[in-house]
Amino acid sequence: MDSVTPSIILPHGGTLIDRVLTGDALADAQARAAGLPQIPLAPVNLADLELIATGIVSPLAGFMGHDDYIRVVREMHLASGLVWSIPLTLAVSADQAATIREGQEVALCEGERVLAVMTVADKFAYDKQLEAREVYRTTDEAHPGVARVYRQGDVLLGGDLWLVDWPSAKLSEFPDRRFTPAQTRQMFTERGWRRVVGFQTRNPIHRAHEYIQKTALEIVDGLFINPLVGETKADDIPADVRMASYDVLLRSYYPADRVLLGVFPAAMRYAGPREAIFHALCRKNFGCTHFIVGRDHAGVGRYYGTYDAQHIFEEFTPQEIGITPLYFENTFYCRRCGGIVSAKTCPHGPEDRVSLSGTQVRRMLEEGQPLPSEFTRPEISQVLIEGLRRRNHKLAI
Ligand code: ADX
Repeated sequence: MDSVTPSIILPHGGTLIDRVLTGDALADAQARAAGLPQIPLAPVNLADLELIATGIVSPLAGFMGHDDYIRVVREMHLASGLVWSIPLTLAVSADQAATIREGQEVALCEGERVLAVMTVADKFAYDKQLEAREVYRTTDEAHPGVARVYRQGDVLLGGDLWLVDWPSAKLSEFPDRRFTPAQTRQMFTERGWRRVVGFQTRNPIHRAHEYIQKTALEIVDGLFINPLVGETKADDIPADVRMASYDVLLRSYYPADRVLLGVFPAAMRYAGPREAIFHALCRKNFGCTHFIVGRDHAGVGRYYGTYDAQHIFEEFTPQEIGITPLYFENTFYCRRCGGIVSAKTCPHGPEDRVSLSGTQVRRMLEEGQPLPSEFTRPEISQVLIEGLRRRNHKLAI
């Protein structure tokens, strides 16, 4: 198990969770696991398992039971009263649920491999429409997060778990950039960073991202760039292509002693405001003291207002959240100002702005067209074009 270094910011709930078995306990669990009912994990569950086991979602020690689930969905709090905004659940089919009783131990599996053992504390039916309406603010099945809830099984199993083996993603994807909160806390401490700003992203770092990151870095000691690499929707730029672009950008344009790049293994839920709270709490667990929330954070389509993900923080006291959100206006390049600005800092009109939608960006890159250099640095465009070309080529053969 990782040693936990004291940090200036406490994890959510006060204790960093570590649910990774070692030694005799590991050997015992492995021996038991072969005889247990096997529950196959979907990609989102595999991601959640890593979040739980490593303490990224402290204080959660397993998939949510009934009382936590209901309070989180309805009131954005755990049964204990702590703030929590996104349900982390394990859904199974009604048929599978019928074979499992409360109090029983089950094995959570990726294919043939057992990854964790979980004592089922709760087995319960739930209202998918309610979850959609409360958490995603829409019941529209065209919403990718809502669609996932509707697709999954009709019964939830809740209970604390112990990890006995890592999901394959943890072993093979970005192993040099995949840190546990215990590790990031130690790295921040070693670098002497007392105030650290976390940055969530599921996109390449365009000029607007770079601007808000560096503006935030001006008032703190360190920047933790923490791109999400779990499941995203098909038209987002794949994580491996993005990671290649971050490496190039960091090498040339960021001071190495002020910036740490590490992946966030979560799946995207596209839950906008609720996910912004979740993202902030996870970064608090990593040891960040500040968290960037810009325009339409974790949004998709037109389901959320531009600044809803900022307004939601007002529903809590700063003490309840613990990490300090840093809000940014929509930023863009203005030709007359000659730099990245926002409506707060630029007097010119939309005709002077260089702005592109996510769909336009993806289309241009797939056609091999560099993005305007005011929008994305040319070397980043190049890495993205080459990465997408290689990937499409691989998919075609
Ligand atoms: S997200 O789904 O991970 O939020 P994205 O990677 O685009 O999407 O955004 C990462 C962070 O940067 C979010 O906090 C988002 O609000 C912010 N952001 C992205 N683009 C802009 C922009 N042009 N102006 C202000 N904030 C932005």
